[in-house]
Amino acid sequence: MRVQVGIIGAGPSGLLLSQLLHLQGIETIVLERRTADYVLGRIRAGVLEQGMVDLLHQAKAGDRMAREGLIHDGFEIIFNGKRLHIDMKGLTGGDVVTVYGQTEVTKDLMDARAALDGQLVYEAENVQISDLDSDTPKLTYQKDGAEHEVICDFVVGCDGYHGVSRRTMPQDILREFERVYPFGWLGVLSETKPVAEELIYVNDKRGFALCSMRSETRSRYYLQCAFDEDLEEWTDDRFWDELRSRLPDETAASLETGPSIEKSIAPLRSFVAEPLRHGRLMLAGDAAHIVPPTGAKGLNLAASDIYYASNALIEYYQDNSEQGLDNYSHNCLRRIWKAERFSWWMTTLLHRFPDESPFDRRIQAAELDYLQDSQAAQKALAENYVGLPF
Ligand code: APR
Ligand code: PHB
Repeated sequence: MRVQVGIIGAGPSGLLLSQLLHLQGIETIVLERRTADYVLGRIRAGVLEQGMVDLLHQAKAGDRMAREGLIHDGFEIIFNGKRLHIDMKGLTGGDVVTVYGQTEVTKDLMDARAALDGQLVYEAENVQISDLDSDTPKLTYQKDGAEHEVICDFVVGCDGYHGVSRRTMPQDILREFERVYPFGWLGVLSETKPVAEELIYVNDKRGFALCSMRSETRSRYYLQCAFDEDLEEWTDDRFWDELRSRLPDETAASLETGPSIEKSIAPLRSFVAEPLRHGRLMLAGDAAHIVPPTGAKGLNLAASDIYYASNALIEYYQDNSEQGLDNYSHNCLRRIWKAERFSWWMTTLLHRFPDESPFDRRIQAAELDYLQDSQAAQKALAENYVGLPF
């Protein structure tokens, strides 16, 4: 078969790209290794920048988010018992974020794809990319025991960190940059009322904690834990006790607890691959970069890649221009590195590092103290948190 754009991976990146291209008359196919249920079972962050919200509307997949998403105009940081309110909206001159889970975003995009009869192949096994140096790269895969071949004009790798696309890039042109943090996040989702109306980020002597939410009746909480922590050892009771111990008394006292409906441990990593394009293969989203979740930038960064990728491909087909394609990697990387910097900074500011020296501790305390007193510092934090412009 022949399509214009072959997309590998049906996470938020791949679904959003195929939807945006389809709406402009560009034909795509999405090849996904897993089942739709498996893709929807992955629980990830849920803070959307305005750029992502706008793209979802442009993709005609934003109606439920507009109804059910929670608009947040600030969040809180707690350090050494001091509470610091970051008034995002006031500090940025009106910008806010939308709290809406990535699972819901993915579901809405799946529904939007289905409504347009988008070509989506789940359980596509052993996807391979070949003829990369020609004008017609080829995708091959197996499904239900049969071999399939798709000839494309372009292949976009939206197949996440463990996908095949980045590995297919010629290894002599690919550069990778990485930092692995010496801890993980233990996350719990529960059908309980969020402890506060806004998100709370806590730097406590026992480690980082985050109080987040998915809706007015569903909470998401995280605790900094060892990177090799055994999930089995974390009963719900132990989780709630530990969370309470990291919160100020008045917040701990109002914490509503209940059975966890999901519990998992995620490692923290910063990673960037450069460049994001070679010939007719482009990388987007987690296939090209990972951020630690502290700034909630993972999904938003995937969205900015898709913004540049969709515009570049639309320009190619509608205006016969390769300019967007030529600038794709450069444009994405400028924004990626700023989000990498911000996520690294938030992570460094808010966690306890096992190997930290007394000097490191004092620097961290000074940084938080500065943030407390300086409008300029708060403004820089708020501007990055709501998302830099595309
Ligand atoms: N063939 C086909 N599909 C694959 C392959 C492969 N070889 N390898 C991986 N995939 C699929 C995965 O099963 C997954 O559904 O690619 C998809 C990648 O989706 P995500 O990992 O969600 O990545 P992305 O769409 O870029 O979304 C980025 O997800 O990980 C979070 O923090 C991240 O929020 C950000 C968002
Ligand atoms: C989440 O709700 O899962 C979440 C929110 C904010 C973050 C990270 C994760 O910074």
